[in-house]
Amino acid sequence: IGGVTIARNDVVRDDDPTNNVPDSIFSKLGMQLHRRDKHPIGIIKNGIYEYFDSNYAKKFEKFEDLSPIVSTKQNFDDVLVPADHVSRSLNDTYYVDPQTVLRCHTSAHQAELLRKGHRRFLVTGDVYRRDSIDATHYPVFHQMEGFCIFSPEDWNDSGIDSTLYAAEDLKKCLEGLARHLFGAVEMRWVDTYFPFTNPSFELEIYFKEDWLEVLGCGVTEQVILKQSGLDNNVAWAFGLGLERLAMVLFDIPDIRLFWSSDERFTSQFGKGELGVKFKPFSKYPPCYKDISFWISDSFTENNFCDVVRGIAGDLVEEVKLIDNFTNKKGMTSHCYRIVFRSMERSLTDEEVNDLQSKVRDEVQRKLNVELR
Ligand code: PHE
Repeated sequence: IGGVTIARNDVVRDDDPTNNVPDSIFSKLGMQLHRRDKHPIGIIKNGIYEYFDSNYAKKFEKFEDLSPIVSTKQNFDDVLVPADHVSRSLNDTYYVDPQTVLRCHTSAHQAELLRKGHRRFLVTGDVYRRDSIDATHYPVFHQMEGFCIFSPEDWNDSGIDSTLYAAEDLKKCLEGLARHLFGAVEMRWVDTYFPFTNPSFELEIYFKEDWLEVLGCGVTEQVILKQSGLDNNVAWAFGLGLERLAMVLFDIPDIRLFWSSDERFTSQFGKGELGVKFKPFSKYPPCYKDISFWISDSFTENNFCDVVRGIAGDLVEEVKLIDNFTNKKGMTSHCYRIVFRSMERSLTDEEVNDLQSKVRDEVQRKLNVELR
């Protein structure tokens, strides 16, 4: 990875019961799509750099090669994620061992960079989350974290208090960024909650007849600054989802395409070309397969999705719960519809039947469910 090499043993430990990193995820470590100048993720990263370089006299430092393997302290404790927060669960996060995770956000580096004396920075990297499967969700994606500190002389003359000052500067900055990337685009701010910022906001952009969340941000909790001796300062932070932005900007309909090495995809993008619209090279037919089973208490949809992805890889487009009922004996049945579709070719019946039969075997073997 850039300078670091990651071995399978560093992340996939077959003997550690806490370890829930499948090989399909291991294979993504080190790909660093954000460092490829002709890849949509790299192009958008460079476009954002350009905005910050040309609009801010005081430079933002850039980090894009920090290891995605971080401690639970970095990923959670340092950014005040409560002990009982869902994001800490094995269901949501990839654990290497009880103290080590694949970062689920670039915020994992905030505190460490502050402690090292950095004050304004952009951190770009691959982040990992266990999630359901559809066109805008993929268990690996890329984020850019922005962080900016202010001192009393910055807000003293403004006549407003420091928190409000930071919040206004933040929104102005991100609206400017959206205009730099998209020109005219419909956007809206939504109030939200993050453990590490207050107030907190999300920016949504109108895309394909729906509002798409593209970033989270807010005014940094004072405790985080205090830990680095910055009691008299105030700061803002944001975390941008680069795939989401790139989908809107380049008109990319499916998040799996970012991982495609098909030349019909890769050849459409050039270094520094922010405006091009992706021309779909054809939509191959989907193939639907249903699977029903009685679940047990330990069943989760994310575990099911990892099994499906482990077998079908990027040939799976969507996994949807289409039926859910509990019988008189208290047994609960789920029926999932799996949509198989390749971005690159037509799948044969035989191939899909084979995938589905492997899914059935593996689901029964690994998930403690009873097939119906
Ligand atoms: N880390 C948050 C996420 O991944 C985004 C965020 C970053 C929010 C910085 C606020 C400040 O969802």
